[in-house]
Amino acid sequence: MKHFLSIQDFSLDDIIENILKLAFVAVTDAREQRCREPLYLASRNAKVTLLFREPSTRTLSSYREAAELLGFRVQEISGVEATSFMKKESFADGVRTLAEEGANILVIRDRFEGAPRFAAEVLDRMGYSIPVHNAGDGANRHPTQAILNALTILRKLGRLHDFTVGFLGDLRYSRTIHSDLDMLKLLMQKHGDIRLKAVSAPEAALLPSQKMGLAIEESDSLEILRDCHVVMATRIQEERYPDKNEAKKVMGRFMITRQVLDSMMDPDVIIMHPLPRGLEIAPEISEDQRVVMWEQMGYGVPARMALLRLSYTGRNEAYAPLSIPESELTTLDEEGVESRLAKREAKYGADVDRYFRPIRERGMVIDHLPVGAGDRVKHLLRDFAGLRGDEGCIHLLEGMKVKKGTPEEHRKDALVLEGQYIGKEFYGIITFMVPDVTFNVIREGTFTKCKSAMPERLPAGIFLCPNEVCITNNDPEARARFAVHSDGQFVSCYYCNRIFSREEILKKF
Ligand code: NCD
Repeated sequence: MKHFLSIQDFSLDDIIENILKLAFVAVTDAREQRCREPLYLASRNAKVTLLFREPSTRTLSSYREAAELLGFRVQEISGVEATSFMKKESFADGVRTLAEEGANILVIRDRFEGAPRFAAEVLDRMGYSIPVHNAGDGANRHPTQAILNALTILRKLGRLHDFTVGFLGDLRYSRTIHSDLDMLKLLMQKHGDIRLKAVSAPEAALLPSQKMGLAIEESDSLEILRDCHVVMATRIQEERYPDKNEAKKVMGRFMITRQVLDSMMDPDVIIMHPLPRGLEIAPEISEDQRVVMWEQMGYGVPARMALLRLSYTGRNEAYAPLSIPESELTTLDEEGVESRLAKREAKYGADVDRYFRPIRERGMVIDHLPVGAGDRVKHLLRDFAGLRGDEGCIHLLEGMKVKKGTPEEHRKDALVLEGQYIGKEFYGIITFMVPDVTFNVIREGTFTKCKSAMPERLPAGIFLCPNEVCITNNDPEARARFAVHSDGQFVSCYYCNRIFSREEILKKF
């Protein structure tokens, strides 16, 4: 293992066999090693750099403790106020600086979602063998917390299956819960006996797109926690709410008090919390033995020892950047240009001239674009596909009748590309923008009509991510790319993981 950026990057075997097994052993190491010489797993001068541009108590200090027990030197940069980020230095440049100054592992906590993944890409591209860990990125993910949470469940219940988890608090903006769900999803693919429940108010509930296809029984009453073996509570993440009043509505709405704990909950329940707590767990039960959040917090050290160790050993592993598969084309029709044009002329009359005369020898028509979409596709081709501009080389035919005699409102746009073709990846991108599009290509005397499959991914740098706190909107070198879902109806951002509809993406284009 090199980078540790998200649970989603790993298989269940990776997590259990490699990470959790090592973390389990490190529980003893972490206790005993405090009274001994460091383990010096790394060379004596190896350095862990902690770059924390968001507040932290536990994650920061447990990383420091874990790194020191392993024998690393630790460099800590916490709080942006004291850094050149205040002088508007870009995140990428800050990361490059720490790399050049000798970081051997870079641990990043950031307000901008996807920042650690972007940092890993920058360093890999530049040839550094520096693993990057995500210590929490905005409301996106907090994968090391999910490891220590799983370690807690394993230590307290003795198993990672056959249990019911109840979530309580802010499911929408808690990165810890998002990573817990990643972990539970992996476990549930293997074990059918894990059940998920959630008590939450509408303002803090998971959005449908955040459920990752998991069945979660939801309620606005604490009653739902009655038969849970594990309760995972989290603070309302007030600072992440676009409208703070929404956060205020839910704060303190559900609280586990002495009365709730004694009268409603399973006597052997374990109540977990990543801390800091808000009003989810009443102070009066802080020291109840079912409230295991202190012990849970302590597992942060062995969990991070295991992760640092694995990353340091795997630091030279190859980087496999996400590749963009070429769009697959389906040929609908193919014949000689002259006979094709003659047929079309008979069918559609003189209008055919506007389409095909300019490209009788070479070129293409991008057809069946809804009225208005032609302009957008033209913009794509001019600005991104390197096609020559307006000077007679791209003709936009706007609002043409689809067929002779069809109703007035039944119109379309088409783009005629004179003497030029688009690159293969653009077939997919245009199909994402306009799923009904067809491509008519004339080349060497042959007319080919084809359609492209919906692409699996959208390449970097074309569409913007609508999420304001995505790193791609906060570093001039970070460019959004997306995975495409549900036949092009939705996409998810590769960096911040948020899901958007096609319309949301096109609105920003
Ligand atoms: C959490 C975090 O920073 O996401 N704390 C932690 O790392 N243990 C939880 C929170 O801020 O509510």
